[in-house]
Amino acid sequence: MRLSGKTAIVTGGGSGFGAGIARKFAAEGARVVVADINVEGAEAIAAEIGGTALVCNVASRKSVSDLAETVLSAGHLDILVNNAGVTHLPNQLEDVTEEDFDRVYNVNMKSVFLTAQAFIPHFKSRKSGVILNVASTAGVSPRPRLNWYNASKGWMITATKTMAVELAPEGIRVNAINPVAGDTPLLKSFMGEDTPEVRAKFLSTIPIGRFSTPEDMGNAACFLCSDEASMITGVAMEVDGGRCI
Ligand SMILES: NC(=O)c1ccc[n+]([C@@H]2O[C@H](COP(=O)([O-])OP(=O)(O)OC[C@H]3O[C@@H](n4cnc5c(N)ncnc54)[C@H](O)[C@@H]3O)[C@@H](O)[C@H]2O)c1
Repeated sequence: MRLSGKTAIVTGGGSGFGAGIARKFAAEGARVVVADINVEGAEAIAAEIGGTALVCNVASRKSVSDLAETVLSAGHLDILVNNAGVTHLPNQLEDVTEEDFDRVYNVNMKSVFLTAQAFIPHFKSRKSGVILNVASTAGVSPRPRLNWYNASKGWMITATKTMAVELAPEGIRVNAINPVAGDTPLLKSFMGEDTPEVRAKFLSTIPIGRFSTPEDMGNAACFLCSDEASMITGVAMEVDGGRCI
């Protein structure tokens, strides 16, 4: 029960890695708020783990403010996981539409800014809090045709480190995890087309020889957000089966 007595928000917790993180947090004793733009997904995971589902669009200031008001009026918050993320389809970088660019940047980057504004005053007032950003190996070792997605994750890693040094004196830790390709609904969008050949190509870059799983992310996230990691801040930890070596 590493997270006993803690309250956590997991954005994008209604699917994939976020669901894995929400499940692990609940199993370790946390009260979990599953915040997702997808109501059905959020409600299904919340029901499974005995958590609370809240509808939230992390790219919207109003929606993030509403989330903060609902959660903080009911009690305190210990852990914020910025996990919700989207990608554009693989394409030559100059052919990605402005609409797709804006969507990727608003969901993957602006959300970190908006949740920081909404929750950091609360964490500062308690002199405690943990933020975990779900970035990607794409931000460390980028590959062609996903340029704007890769860059959004590189931004997230830099934001994590800067937030960590600025917030450390306030008792707030900020870390990131960098997942390698995982078999979630988002994988198809990274691959462009889901064929055995494209899957084999992705797998061939992962020395451990398998895709990552929501359980892998839950385990890493739980450690980094627990008191066991109280001396760890500003890391962007690969959870990648050796892909970035
Ligand atoms: N799957 C991979 O291969 C992979 C690899 C590296 C990093 N990541 C990152 O992991 C995170 C989770 O991805 P996943 O693979 O679990 O994807 P997923 O599509 O399974 O889940 C993403 C969740 O985020 C939610 N979401 C999307 N836009 C939102 C918004 N505006 N507001 C609130 N919620 C929103 C979706 O409804 C969904 O429930 C993302 O940040 C992604 O970039 C994924």
